[in-house]
Amino acid sequence: MHQRYLLLTVFSVFLSTSLFGKATARKASYIPYDDAQPILQALIDDLPSELQGKSSDEIKADWSTWVARRDAEIRRRLIQGDEDSLVNVLLFGTSFTKQPRITGKQVILLSRAAIQKGIGTSLTAPSAEESKLDEILKGRIDDLVKGLAAPDNNERLLFARQLMVTQKGYNPGATAGRDQIKKYLLSSLDRVLTEQVGYAKAVEAARLLGDSREEFYERSKLYRNRGLSLDTSLLPDFAIEEALKTMKAQGLLKEGSIRHIAIVGPGLDFTDKQEGYDFYPQQSIQPFAAIDSLLRLRLSLPGNLQVETLDLSPRVNDHLSRAKRLAQRGREYVVQLPRSLQAQWKAGAVQYWERFGDQIGVSARPVAIPAEVSDVKVRAVRIKPTVVSRITPADLNIVLQRLELAPAERFDLIIATNILIYYDAFEQSLAMSNVQAMLRPDGFLLANNALPEFPFLPLHAVGYVTVVYSDRPNDGEHIVWYGQKTD
Ligand SMILES: C[S@@+](CC[C@H](N)C(=O)[O-])C[C@H]1O[C@@H](n2cnc3c(N)ncnc32)[C@H](O)[C@@H]1O
Repeated sequence: MHQRYLLLTVFSVFLSTSLFGKATARKASYIPYDDAQPILQALIDDLPSELQGKSSDEIKADWSTWVARRDAEIRRRLIQGDEDSLVNVLLFGTSFTKQPRITGKQVILLSRAAIQKGIGTSLTAPSAEESKLDEILKGRIDDLVKGLAAPDNNERLLFARQLMVTQKGYNPGATAGRDQIKKYLLSSLDRVLTEQVGYAKAVEAARLLGDSREEFYERSKLYRNRGLSLDTSLLPDFAIEEALKTMKAQGLLKEGSIRHIAIVGPGLDFTDKQEGYDFYPQQSIQPFAAIDSLLRLRLSLPGNLQVETLDLSPRVNDHLSRAKRLAQRGREYVVQLPRSLQAQWKAGAVQYWERFGDQIGVSARPVAIPAEVSDVKVRAVRIKPTVVSRITPADLNIVLQRLELAPAERFDLIIATNILIYYDAFEQSLAMSNVQAMLRPDGFLLANNALPEFPFLPLHAVGYVTVVYSDRPNDGEHIVWYGQKTD
């Protein structure tokens, strides 16, 4: 299962007047009560507290109000996800400091200290290693706070500064504000590290169930109480390509059959999800990777593929909308592809990294690697504007919303990786209903989660592939494809 390792870890060039071609984003609608009703009944013991003990009539009468309120609550989880990403920048970023990056071993030391603080255990005298780590961390915090006071054109610092000012009310330009930010960073760091230890324990508890299927189910909702993070990296896209290859080999997908796809939660590489890099501009990867893979496998024909991205994050949607606007004016989109040599990727992953983009652009000169970052290789790909223009972003919360699509407009493929893990079984079930409503009868959902299946919902697991990225523990994915029962 893909996880952050170090902390444990599309039509401007409207080539045809396509039936389903929409040059602008569509508006999402909330899941109707009638579609949710069988889920509410099946999961009566697992409903959110405010729905528990209510009759069907009471829930139905209040449905539109409940859904809108829940939508707002889910979207508020983005703030904590942003705070989590800021902790990643603090530990591993190099765009604001010359201090060394925190190593995996040091993360373990910091986690221990966070837990000891949390349970009020007094610390023994620090070892030389701990003292050095303390110094590095203080240096990183000082540099980050200085960066927030004077962010220049560092887009991550600009974003973090806005987070501090608008969400927290701290003024990085004043001494008192800077002190508040330092305290806030330290407490966020302790919170994130303590949570990571909790996730590691939950993963271990799931493993001890001794049943790989049960383990996968447990892990598939691991982040249900966590902030919604945007971070992304290349490797899940390698796993998606492997899944598509297998589906084609099994005759489930035919050449040229994929014309309209959705990427749910494409993400934004604020800090690279795998290694925490921040030495290149923020970028989205998955929509481009999906087009690249579909063309490589000849599952889609050039000029006949439309991609809609469905995300609830304004940052993700704004980023992709801007890329599309610029592409409509002829601007390419450049992605940087870091590969940690320490991670020792498997040969298949390295080959994927080497060929990434050959269907959608050309290799470009990558950004310079900062001195503080060692053992990394970077490739860059300049993606053609005609490709970028094929992506149409829409604001949508997959748990509670769907696009109202006529049958001929529905998706052949919906990809959702590292998103449904942030939800519990009830929310995942609602998401399955929304996916179902947008999918063609012979279409597939690809996800790296074990998702709830019900007799009343035709979507069910058809097959899966396991893709291992490296020899590091838990460094890989199970990609499951869900199709609709035809019997
Ligand atoms: C951790 S990132 C994963 C990015 C990418 N799919 C990957 O595998 O690397 C999660 C993405 O899902 C989006 N997201 C989270 N909850 C969502 C929801 N309920 N509906 C739509 N998008 C959601 C986030 O905004 C973010 O873009």
